Amino acid sequence: MQLVTTVQDLQALADRERAAGRRIALVPTMGALHAGHLSLVREARRRADRVWVSVFVNPAQFDDPADLDRYPRTLEADLEACRRAGVDAVFQPEVGELYPAGCQTWVEVAGLSRPLCGATRPGHFRGVTTVVSKLLLAAKPHVAVFGEKDFQQLVLIRRMVRDLGFDVEIVGSPIVREPDGLALSSRNARLDPEARRQARVLVAALDAAGRAAAAGERRGAALLHVARNEIAKAPRARIDYVELRDPDSLEPTPAELHGPALLALAVCFDPLEGVAGASVRLIDNRLLRPED
Ligand code: PAJ
Repeated sequence: MQLVTTVQDLQALADRERAAGRRIALVPTMGALHAGHLSLVREARRRADRVWVSVFVNPAQFDDPADLDRYPRTLEADLEACRRAGVDAVFQPEVGELYPAGCQTWVEVAGLSRPLCGATRPGHFRGVTTVVSKLLLAAKPHVAVFGEKDFQQLVLIRRMVRDLGFDVEIVGSPIVREPDGLALSSRNARLDPEARRQARVLVAALDAAGRAAAAGERRGAALLHVARNEIAKAPRARIDYVELRDPDSLEPTPAELHGPALLALAVCFDPLEGVAGASVRLIDNRLLRPED
């Protein structure tokens, strides 16, 4: 497995692989790799001859500097996980490599970056789309794989690629979960044991709304009520948002659903009173398909 640290070296490698007729798949990550990331690597492997993983904690997408400091950095373990997963190259640039001094160019998907996570995390998605652009230009992949866990991110990246004409196929890959249903995330490790138990309400809310939709409930307000009720069973859970949105445009859905709808949740778990620490914000989502 190769370790590449500069854009120039990665572009040269990409040119060689492409000249040899090989397909490249890129899996962008911020490291602290878990089974969710590794499922993207497997998906990438099915679609290409070379699988590349980028490991870069992107300062531009953190609205809170303390959150950036807290972000887990586990490079040795990440490299080992990539080796075991059969990754061909890891791209691990320094911040100055992707954001050269004096850098003043940003990529922003104006509308889609506003709702849901964009509403409480100003600048977050601008940071994401900017760094993903840089990674695509550096790795020149034929395909790039992203998790449906960050559904809004995936929708934004698809739109950016379409709008700017990037020559790459964007692939979405299903959410990987813990045995109790909690979506894997590097943030889960920051939950105290009681908050971790209560965090199951996110998936319980999706399940309950999914059952109601499958049973024929088409009223958006009723489905949101079902989801909120499940979350309310966890006394420590504080809702950031529970929303139904069109899965392509992220526009609010009509009062009566007449097609697939994205149910998206963001829930915060605050530290126990008197205990130092920051609150942990978890997200999850599911595509609801009310019966026709
Ligand atoms: P990161 O949070 O490291 O996630 C990297 C990729 O793994 C994303 O596409 C994310 O959706 C996916 N992922 C995370 N948890 C998952 C799970 N439980 N199941 C399936 N996929 C999962 O997302 C980012 O990094 C950054 O914003 C990035 C795109 C790398 C840009 O900096």
